[in-house]
Amino acid sequence: MTQITKICCIGAGYVGGPTMAMIAKKCPHIKVTVVDLNEQRIAAWNDEDVNKIPVYEPGLSEVVAEARGRNLFFSTEVESAIADAQMVFISVNTPTKTYGAGKGQAADLKWIELCARQIARVAKDNKIIVEKSTLPVRTASAIRDILTHTGNGSQFQILSNPEFLAEGTAVEDLDAPDRVLIGGDSTPEGQIAVQALVDVYANWIPRERILTTNVWSSELSKLTANAFLAQRVSSINSLSELCEKTEADITEVAKAIGTDSRIGPKFLKASVGFGGSCFQKDILNLVYIARSYGLQEVADYWEQVIIMNDHQKKRFANQMIRDLYNTVNGKKISFLGWAFKKDTNDTRESAAIYVADHLLYEQAYISVYDPKVLEDQVYADLDYLGSRTQEENRNGVKVVSDPYEACKGAHAIAVLTEWDEFKNYDWQRIYDSMLKPAKIFDGRNLLDTNKLSDIGFIVQAIGKK
Ligand SMILES: NC(=O)c1ccc[n+]([C@@H]2O[C@H](COP(=O)([O-])OP(=O)(O)OC[C@H]3O[C@@H](n4cnc5c(N)ncnc54)[C@H](O)[C@@H]3O)[C@@H](O)[C@H]2O)c1
Repeated sequence: MTQITKICCIGAGYVGGPTMAMIAKKCPHIKVTVVDLNEQRIAAWNDEDVNKIPVYEPGLSEVVAEARGRNLFFSTEVESAIADAQMVFISVNTPTKTYGAGKGQAADLKWIELCARQIARVAKDNKIIVEKSTLPVRTASAIRDILTHTGNGSQFQILSNPEFLAEGTAVEDLDAPDRVLIGGDSTPEGQIAVQALVDVYANWIPRERILTTNVWSSELSKLTANAFLAQRVSSINSLSELCEKTEADITEVAKAIGTDSRIGPKFLKASVGFGGSCFQKDILNLVYIARSYGLQEVADYWEQVIIMNDHQKKRFANQMIRDLYNTVNGKKISFLGWAFKKDTNDTRESAAIYVADHLLYEQAYISVYDPKVLEDQVYADLDYLGSRTQEENRNGVKVVSDPYEACKGAHAIAVLTEWDEFKNYDWQRIYDSMLKPAKIFDGRNLLDTNKLSDIGFIVQAIGKK
């Protein structure tokens, strides 16, 4: 294979968009076309106003502005883009199955299979197929099966190249990743394909940070990385509950253990629980795979990470109810934050959704403010749960564009996302506008508790008495 000059990426989501924008920025000699079935999404990626692209990430609009129209293109012409490319990235969604065997655990590979069939149908020459989506270990063999049995004679090499970017810091992570992982076959053709992808990344990433492995190790490493990260969150969260009973302080404990170089300080922040589209689905997937091989203890071990996370979200909502004199019926609760973390507009699996659902069961009235999440998204997230009618969700929840408006007349505030701007609000003004006693439930340990207590707030943080 000669040098790669034409790349197609199927899926213009939170991974496909930013990843391809970075490749295009760093490799002006490569034409990168990102395709998606979702016309609205592609139109947004092509919006003249580059601040209106569908994914909010600090610095992303600038990257897109530099490359778009030069060597970065967004299109709904899926087939022609595949046909034209030497290398095709598959970056479509792989959510947890909601039906049939493996429901609630296994990854739904429907979209992956559709991509493979489409590639096989339209390919007229040899191509390298790159799994960018997070997939169960051994998916590459299913893709290979489809390509070889339904193709028209073209040769395909399948690589695994999982994405490790974190939402909120995607541009930084793509610009200077800890590592890039590429898994390929050990055959000569497989190794040529691996080298072709190494050469793409080597345009800006030091060679020693580009790791190459066999395909299965690469696929499993992505699930493992997410499982380990989520496990740290659940570990610290499990101890936050013990702190609340014992007058130990979770921030002090985290600092004390984080200074041990074997443990390290990152991902030790107690919170209302992790969210995001990946951690839960990837662990469930790992659990499912382990069970399917009969590895019951392995499956049970990792499942506990999810059980603890669900417990933490429920515990947070229950504590609010308890502290509000065991009833939130008709009370206004203000939510600061809806996104699953700061610096993203992504709300998938956000703890806020589940806390809201729990409070709505208790007939609370919720007022939501998030700097980047739009009203329609909040309602879509609640409607998706199917807990109540759309009308009931709209009656119970109002989304406002001003944080002071959200807090006015509230019995309590819940901080659900760690947006920096929350720290700098005029908290005296907020206090004055609330019902008393004015309570804050800080699900992110974000705010200055002493300052707020001095104003008169009653603050409950995670893992603190
Ligand atoms: N979001 C993250 O932070 C992150 C990080 C690492 C890995 N991943 C993995 O990357 C994959 C994609 O995640 P995402 O967050 O970008 O998902 P997403 O839902 O934001 O984007 C997926 C896109 O693929 C499109 N699509 C689906 N089937 C298609 C088809 N047949 N043809 C064309 N387009 C199609 C959808 O319309 C959608 O726009 C998942 O496997 C995920 O686990 C995500």
